[in-house]
Amino acid sequence: MSPSPMIVRTVPALRRALDGLRARKATTALVPTMGALHDGHVSLVRLAKRRAKKVIVSIFVNPTQFAPSEDFGSYPRTWKADVAKLAAEDVDLIWNPDVKTMYPDGFATRILTEGPATAGLEDRFRPHFFGGVATVVGKLFTQCRPDFAIFGEKDFQQLTIIRRMVDELCMPIEIVAAPTVRDLDGLAMSSRNQYLTSAERRVAPQVFAALQAAARRLAAGDTDFAAIERAGFKTLESLGFRPDYFSVRQALDLAAASASGARELVVLTAARLGKARLIDNVRVTRP
Ligand code: PAJ
Repeated sequence: MSPSPMIVRTVPALRRALDGLRARKATTALVPTMGALHDGHVSLVRLAKRRAKKVIVSIFVNPTQFAPSEDFGSYPRTWKADVAKLAAEDVDLIWNPDVKTMYPDGFATRILTEGPATAGLEDRFRPHFFGGVATVVGKLFTQCRPDFAIFGEKDFQQLTIIRRMVDELCMPIEIVAAPTVRDLDGLAMSSRNQYLTSAERRVAPQVFAALQAAARRLAAGDTDFAAIERAGFKTLESLGFRPDYFSVRQALDLAAASASGARELVVLTAARLGKARLIDNVRVTRP
């Protein structure tokens, strides 16, 4: 049996727990999550274990990254199963603050992100989102002071923004990117996949298929980026999705791709299907 991870919910208890973890200068890695853990999250934990001696997982459904119309209230919360999964991975510490601990009454400080956070992707459809993410991740970083923090490539714009924030605010943390974990049929794992009906679940892998089709064109040297974007968008529409965007960008900074620009690209999409909003991306190097 794996030992149960320590579970802490207050800042003083977190301080004490971290002092214990860091005894003999052990390195630490943080995996920030909103719970409802699946194999994608578990892969981040495993990567964290390879990087650092001690692993901290935060579970906090962050209200500031949800718009009032979004699913904060109904976001899946599976606490017991989450703890069991983290115990099986030998996680050392679970940081599980409540909303009042993270955002005491009168909370008045925000981290404002620009550049990749205003690239016209997620930010166009969820304008509140990255302000909430950057603020909570910044706070998790100062609370936990990890040597490493692990983020999934699945949320590529989020990863890009966090890298930039850490760099520009000189946070002494190394950001480690983890590849996207998929079901066998290609659908990127997500806590929100639970919102799909079984019929929707059968078409959902077409998101990845459309991204791969675009990546193949780019890898073959096609530089008609606008045509590639239109084709991906239309394919998804014709399959019953309501795409928000289907976009070819430079991987480094999410700027628009251009024939004279960077060769490292990423194709990103977000598409609604029934109650779910699926996001995914594929990296590609053009010739
Ligand atoms: P959440 O959606 O719970 O995701 C936590 C981490 O798991 C993120 O870094 C995300 O990119 C990664 N992840 C999710 N699905 C994945 C998959 N299929 N393969 C690999 N990694 C995957 O992202 C958030 O929470 C929040 O915005 C957070 C950063 C915790 C701030 O509140």
